Amino acid sequence: MIYSNYNLKSLNSFGLDTYAKTFIFIDKENDLLDINDTSLSEKNIILGGGSNTVFVNDYFDGTIISIRNKGINIVQEGDDFVILDAFSGEVWNDVVSFCAKKGWWGIENLAAVFGNVGAVAVQNIGAYGAELRDCFMECLTYNPLKKEWKTYVNEDLNFGYRYSIFKNQKELEIIWKIRLRLSKTMKINNSYAAINNKIIEENLNISTPLDMVNLVTKIRNSKLPDPKVLGNCGSFFKNPIVSESHFELLKKKFSSIPSYEVENGVKLAAGWLIEQCGWKGKRVGNVGMHNKQALIMVNYGNAKGEEILNLAYEIEKSVKNKFNVELEKEVHIIL
Ligand code: EPU
Repeated sequence: MIYSNYNLKSLNSFGLDTYAKTFIFIDKENDLLDINDTSLSEKNIILGGGSNTVFVNDYFDGTIISIRNKGINIVQEGDDFVILDAFSGEVWNDVVSFCAKKGWWGIENLAAVFGNVGAVAVQNIGAYGAELRDCFMECLTYNPLKKEWKTYVNEDLNFGYRYSIFKNQKELEIIWKIRLRLSKTMKINNSYAAINNKIIEENLNISTPLDMVNLVTKIRNSKLPDPKVLGNCGSFFKNPIVSESHFELLKKKFSSIPSYEVENGVKLAAGWLIEQCGWKGKRVGNVGMHNKQALIMVNYGNAKGEEILNLAYEIEKSVKNKFNVELEKEVHIIL
């Protein structure tokens, strides 16, 4: 289905009231034929759940391709593993719930991450000590201009922190489905302090993936605003990585600074840095940083692109001034 001048308000979790020149819904394989020289523009965007996309203008002068193909298929099952395909238009959390209810381990710590399946591979979603890449096998993509299907295995995607090669993809390439390998053997991932502390504090018995889904969902819901109530895109910035020497200097000045050792340096908590700069719970016009998680920018109703970009800029500037740390946006800004 192709539409002109289509409103995107209900299709982006920030709740921005933007219109797109051309909008194409893709529900089944045959719909891919709708993507052609006539329907495409100079600017073309693939939209999943719209939970990481911020449209900063009232009008997007291009084509948006919305992927809504559904399905979860079991490809292979053994005594202790299962391989399944999830189609890109599935809501990610529905896939997590489906697998957890079956008793399959691997993605339970990624519960309640909003967005659709296609997008989770693009940015290698991660939360509570797990990342998609841990159980991602491959994905099937379609290039509508070349009319070409292609399979990428895990190693091809060069996964990193909130990164895959699709992040910098210049060509239009639609992720059609992803393939995951999950375990039927109990594999509790309680490496993340917030999870482990909660298990100890509340003396919880985690024996199924569904127990973990419930715990993670509870923790997330206690901190992260529901986009249906307060528009947001989850973390607005990435957690920055600084060098060991830079970290040593920061540690001397700010002894309680949270940090995590990573391969290429030390990862800092952007939420903490932003809070220290006084932005937590602060509202500027129609936007602000959430009062329970300073890393999340929220839309109080009628946010305009300019307000979003201005607040982001002010935050970047104050974090740079106080800590000499550059923040990088995690959300995808569409101009
Ligand atoms: N912190 C503060 N103030 C705040 C927020 C956080 O001091 O306002 C501190 C916390 O006390 C903690 C540290 O910062 O010491 C880390 O906080 P948290 O565990 O809440 O996680 P995060 O680093 O802020 C990341 C992901 C989230 C993911 C959580 C849990 C990024 C950019 N964000 O947030 O992902 O859910 O870890 O694993 O990596 C998302 O990508 O949209 C997202 C929500």
